[in-house]
Amino acid sequence: MSKKLYIETVGCQMNVLDSELVVGSLRRQGYQLTHEATEADVILFNTCSVRQHAEDKIYSALGRLRAYKRRHPNKVVGVLGCMAQKDQDLILRRAPHVDIVCGTGQLARLPELIAEVQETHTPQLALSLDRKEGSRLEVEHSFESYDPLRDPSMRPSPFQAYVRIMIGCDKFCTYCIVPSVRGPEQSRPPEHIAAEVRQLADEGCKEVILLGQTVNSYEFKYADGRRERLSDLLLRIHDTPGVERIKFITNFPRDMSDDLLDAVRALPKVCEYLHVPAQSGCNDVLKRMKRLYTVEFYRDMLQRCRERVPDAAISSDFIVGFCGETEASFQRTCDLVREADFKNSFIFKYSPRPGTKADELFADDVPEEIKKRRNNDLLAIQNRVSLADHRRRIGQTVEVLVEGPSKTSLKHETGPGPKQLTGRTMTDHIVVFEGNERLIGQTVQVRIEEATAFTLFGTVATGERIGVEAERLSEPATSIPETLLQEALKNRLELPLLGG
Ligand code: 5AD
Ligand code: SF4
Repeated sequence: MSKKLYIETVGCQMNVLDSELVVGSLRRQGYQLTHEATEADVILFNTCSVRQHAEDKIYSALGRLRAYKRRHPNKVVGVLGCMAQKDQDLILRRAPHVDIVCGTGQLARLPELIAEVQETHTPQLALSLDRKEGSRLEVEHSFESYDPLRDPSMRPSPFQAYVRIMIGCDKFCTYCIVPSVRGPEQSRPPEHIAAEVRQLADEGCKEVILLGQTVNSYEFKYADGRRERLSDLLLRIHDTPGVERIKFITNFPRDMSDDLLDAVRALPKVCEYLHVPAQSGCNDVLKRMKRLYTVEFYRDMLQRCRERVPDAAISSDFIVGFCGETEASFQRTCDLVREADFKNSFIFKYSPRPGTKADELFADDVPEEIKKRRNNDLLAIQNRVSLADHRRRIGQTVEVLVEGPSKTSLKHETGPGPKQLTGRTMTDHIVVFEGNERLIGQTVQVRIEEATAFTLFGTVATGERIGVEAERLSEPATSIPETLLQEALKNRLELPLLGG
């Protein structure tokens, strides 16, 4: 009988990709994926440390497993990723039934760690060096685990895939744990990335999403001194046959260079979508956050984006209730959101992270109630801006890559015939419309008729599929096996929450 694997993933797209790599390598060891933890021989949690809430979720999931593991001592329980790297052996003290603690930079060792637990019944720790534990080179090496094994069933959908172009982060924003749990910033060789994109396209992927905590800081230095930036990389992979769309997340405001914006404008497959977190609209706060820019710089950068890529949709992240954020500072953030015309913003209440500079230097002095209120207020402002942006699109016909059934039609089994489908535009707008399931994975023209703050609603315009001859319209949508499609739909996720 084949061995079974259960994996639960929390956190950003980088974690989703890591889980894909883990599943890929364990499948090669004969494991089969199951969606029931109780059916599994190996139960894994791929974790996030960016906010306390994400960690609490994992510790309580581990707590629920304790009695089960006592009854089934041969099952292997593993904690992977950011929380593993951050809490290390503390995890074993808080949850002694855990067998494996494996950091972000050590995931390639997982098959070996599982085998070791099964043989010796002793807990295994695989961690990278802390940033001060060795020379930069030593720490870099301890995080390197570029594993090209991929597993299509773990992708956001069969025709969309993440591609890591760099790991780590060197920005050290004072609130952020990422530089310690994901290590030093390292860009992957362009040839490796291009080969992976080719492989994904051969497997049926139409959209590749390039990932980096600060993706626009990408720079690969060759031994002879040549350098390749993100703009060069976009050009390099642009003509990969089969690839229709290229996205990249998440951008750091200071590195939003003109050459990158020009590449976005010039290269038709590159999505005109820029996720560039501002985090705050107040210079005092930005300074305490050590974001390395002022709000004036950020506004100028936005203007530059709009001048060079006039149709770009721009989105942002904000942290409310950061240490020392006064009502006046918060109002400056509100002003920025009112004016900046973001497509959407992800808003988070500040969560102190042990091990970060902010936690060491500043008091978490904004009460939870005020954080909550500011979060709601900022969200309400952003929602008004998003609604206005969406309403401007009513009457337009947009190109939508169909991702699958909409959330509503997933909840209500609607039987045969047209279903509510959902997909995204080149500017990352979510569009819901009625259509046959065979459109999943296709690019269709949709005429926008209605809008809410979150979604555009429309009708498929005639012609349905772009770039495909009319007589092929009645063919099944993709060559992707049905089982894979179903698996992938179960794993569908919301974007984006990565770094930046
Ligand atoms: N508290 C709250 N939000 C945070 N983020 C990062 N660190 C923290 C923290 N300590 C947010 C930032 C970042 C997003 C991925 O998570 O807005 O852009
Ligand atoms: Fe790096 Fe983004 Fe975290 Fe800043 S917020 S340290 S840029 S991952």
